[in-house]
Amino acid sequence: MQPLPGFRDFLPKDCAARNYIFDRWREVARRYGFVEWDGPVLEPTQLYTKKSGAEIVTQLFNFTDKGERDVAMRPELTPTLARVVAAHDREFKKPLKWFSIPQCFRYEKQQRGRLREHFQFNGDIIGEESLDADVELLALCVDLLRAFGFTAKDVVVRMSDREFWIDFLRAQNVPEENWQEILQVIDKSQREPREKTAVKLGPLAEPAFKILDGKGKSEKLDRVLAALRVRGLADFVEIDLGIVRGLAYYTGVVFEAFDRGGKLRALAGGGRYDNLIHHLSDGAVSLPALGFAMGDVVLSELIGESLAAKERMGNAIAAQQNLDIYVVIAKEERRPDALAQIQTLRDQGYRVDFAMSPAKVGKQFQAAEQLGARAAILYGDEWPNVKVKDLRTGDQAPVAHEQVSAKLAALLSA
Ligand code: HAM
Repeated sequence: MQPLPGFRDFLPKDCAARNYIFDRWREVARRYGFVEWDGPVLEPTQLYTKKSGAEIVTQLFNFTDKGERDVAMRPELTPTLARVVAAHDREFKKPLKWFSIPQCFRYEKQQRGRLREHFQFNGDIIGEESLDADVELLALCVDLLRAFGFTAKDVVVRMSDREFWIDFLRAQNVPEENWQEILQVIDKSQREPREKTAVKLGPLAEPAFKILDGKGKSEKLDRVLAALRVRGLADFVEIDLGIVRGLAYYTGVVFEAFDRGGKLRALAGGGRYDNLIHHLSDGAVSLPALGFAMGDVVLSELIGESLAAKERMGNAIAAQQNLDIYVVIAKEERRPDALAQIQTLRDQGYRVDFAMSPAKVGKQFQAAEQLGARAAILYGDEWPNVKVKDLRTGDQAPVAHEQVSAKLAALLSA
């Protein structure tokens, strides 16, 4: 039996890589004062049909449950966040800085960088109108990428402003009910031939292309860039008015992160969505909000393509997983003594493993090496002495078995 298309099995090496990514994400988010939260994997389908926009609705994994409810696996976390924040509005002082690492589900065509499930880091700031919050969020996005060893030569965050485009549509007298459709066309314009976009835009094509070709100026985005320069992060960020974002709820500064090589899909995307909480709570709660999500699939691909990032990940995983001590049982009658010692060492916090059934000494040393053990203790003929071996240098010495802990403490801290 195979997993369903677009779903992954996580073997131990894949889990190690996933944890490495999650650990970096958590570490950086906490550096920025974000706290972790989560919501349900299954939500009423209506939560997504209300405001996320047509694209995500076609990608929903939805079904009718046994209670005749129309439910959907979460394709993203933002509508849940809006629901939760509206429900608990009075309990928290604003602004909120919340992060989460949900697994999300989208019924997309499986292709490079796009699966039917993925994990995404979400960072959102609720209840802060000032543009400084947009800067803080962009800085978080950049630092999340820097945590994997990427520099401004490897990645770029392209930012734009939905408000800029909405002002444009107003100035062109486009009726509001057509805005979403046109914004979608502009969002897609970088991925399709100009002629195709021109047909879709009709009379708007010429002025829109002028803006896309760099002739649009945004004072707001210039200010964001200047504030990022103060933080030393401006090299990672570019103004690109062609970024509009596919999701319907964005209202202000929007951005997407890409690999500089331009080979991969977007690493992350987000922006300001000041009206979503108001809309989803039917006007009960109104709070300005902004956030973004970074997916694990494209990020893993980029790590895989960078020697430096791959090595950094390998070292971090080894440091996390390697054993401290492997206990080699050369004489079966010593097994109870060895097990007593193993328990003591584990209680002391060491990572210790051993062969659960009799095995040749050579095989046991091989296992010690494979598991990355730093030291081995050999239980054999020398009893009541044991041999402690430094597996890095190969040095070994007999030690009275009561002295093992002290000897290992010295060896492992060296
Ligand atoms: P999004 O652009 O739809 O935004 O997704 C964010 C990131 O999740 C993408 O850049 C991509 O890396 C990853 N991603 C999305 N779909 C897939 C997929 N099918 N397979 C693999 N990776 C994928 C949002 O989800 C917004 N809710 C972000 C946000 C948070 N806005 C405000 N707060």
